[in-house]
Amino acid sequence: MIILGLLVLESCKERAGGSSQDTASAEMQEAAILAHHQQLGDSLVQLAQAGMLAAVAQAMEKGGPPNAVDFCNIHASSLVNEMAERWNCSLRRTSHLPRNPENAPDADELKILDWYSGLGSEALTSTVWRDGSRVHYASPIQMKLPACLKCHGVPGTDVDAATLGIIKEKYPQDKALNYAMNDFRGMWHLVFEPEPLSHE
Ligand code: HEC
Repeated sequence: MIILGLLVLESCKERAGGSSQDTASAEMQEAAILAHHQQLGDSLVQLAQAGMLAAVAQAMEKGGPPNAVDFCNIHASSLVNEMAERWNCSLRRTSHLPRNPENAPDADELKILDWYSGLGSEALTSTVWRDGSRVHYASPIQMKLPACLKCHGVPGTDVDAATLGIIKEKYPQDKALNYAMNDFRGMWHLVFEPEPLSHE
């Protein structure tokens, strides 16, 4: 009886030990998946941002800010669409004060925007979280370049009349004016659909 009891106890201990090891390795795997997506998100956003900036700068050189307005929609860049397909993810930008109403935040995005806007600008970094089988990625966007002011700054001072006219015509519900340098402007939000870790 006693031996049987001990055996049962031993096997319980083993099982308990095993399951806590399983939990630890599942947690490590989850941490690795999140870290992987954070890095991937950082690279994709950097590429998308650089691609857009290059297109905007080129259009501004040709015909000033009014000519560049159409290049600020992220889907104007085929690069963004290619990335979405290749990495099986969606990419968008959202803001408390969107220019395009399609970029208005949903309830979850609003929570993160609120969190970001309460942080000091040194503390602004990308973040990742899990929602079932999907991994979400967000990274903050600030008014880092003087060029941003030409379309998001103070009308009359930063934004000239021609640019303002085009913005008002294309985006009658625009809220994205009167920003200053280094202001928090919004965030990127990527959603990765489930897929294996190693696809590079
Ligand atoms: C030539 C004008 C122009 C310049 C320069 C410009 N933007 Fe925009 N921005 C726009 C337009 C137009 C939209 C709306 C795009 C759309 O339809 O999604 C926009 C949208 C955005 C959005 C998405 C949220 C929203 O308001 O709809 C963010 C974030 C943003 N801009 C940040 C910046 C930053 C940061 C810079 C500087 C690096 C910058 N923009 C420079 C015109 C400009």
